Amino acid sequence: MAEPHTQLRHRPRRLRQTPAIRRLVAQTRLHPAELILPVFVREGATEPIPITSMPGVVQHTLTSLVAEAKRVVDVGIGGIMLFGVPATRDATGSGADDPDGILNVALRAVRDAVGDDTVVMADLCLDEYTDHGHCGVLREDPRRGLIVDNDATLERYASVGLAQVRAGAHVLGLSGMMDGQVGYVREALDAEGFTDAILLAYAAKYASGFYGPFRDAVESTLTGDRATYQQDPANVTEALREVALDVAEGADLVMVKPALPYLDILRAVADVSPVPVSAYQVSGEFAQIEASAGWSDRDRVMMETLTSIRRAGASQILTYYALDAAACL
Ligand code: PBG
Repeated sequence: MAEPHTQLRHRPRRLRQTPAIRRLVAQTRLHPAELILPVFVREGATEPIPITSMPGVVQHTLTSLVAEAKRVVDVGIGGIMLFGVPATRDATGSGADDPDGILNVALRAVRDAVGDDTVVMADLCLDEYTDHGHCGVLREDPRRGLIVDNDATLERYASVGLAQVRAGAHVLGLSGMMDGQVGYVREALDAEGFTDAILLAYAAKYASGFYGPFRDAVESTLTGDRATYQQDPANVTEALREVALDVAEGADLVMVKPALPYLDILRAVADVSPVPVSAYQVSGEFAQIEASAGWSDRDRVMMETLTSIRRAGASQILTYYALDAAACL
């Protein structure tokens, strides 16, 4: 009788024998060019301020931000996404479209420093600038009290988008989840001749607990949640509807956010989207990996999550690990 091993024709392990063989057959690769680094810039900061819930991440000064943007260029990172942390806030978020508002000042400084050598992106939202912390302006509803006014918010987004493009943003990240925001901002930009400005629509953005550390990072004043405008984690179909609407309204890129808890959504969107699909590995995903660092190999978990997000269909990944991951590649 033959030895058992001579009867085995199918040996998948053959293709796993050495690093070189595994490299040859790997189906998913990461590259710094498809990573986007989100960064925070704090109005009035004189030195970088650590963010307690996000170890290693800081609120930048204008000077340290520009240095970080140059590192992004040097390492070949695909893009940098700027978030502003203003010193004062008001009901309509007027700091967001003020040309002297922190994000617009920072966009000018970064664009002056990097030119077209990486892609400069701006978060287009109001939540960092409103005193109530919502992503739009509020209106009194007779039954529900204060609600986020969709259409009045669109006017604000158009004004913010114009200010950000004038300050030098290549890409506007529409993260507010208001209905019609992509089309409205597109029209406002085109009317002023900014037909080249690229719109990244946070199309499938879920009302997620994983944004917790970010609220700390931008000193958010929000009480309550964003469930009337961000998507219910239980749903798939509306993500596809949001993507279709955003593409019809002129989105150049669409995003799924958060990433790891929503890989099924990412795959479903990537299967049908006619435009590139990005995914955002958000603050809470980052914080969880950092928190478990003593119990698991942090770099390995970092690279495994990024590979998973890529494998599920993301063409670009926004991640606080962009520089760290690039160092491992
Ligand atoms: C809204 C915005 C949020 C994030 C990015 N843009 C917060 C929210 O929707 O509550 C979260 C990003 C992260 O958690 O890393 N402007």
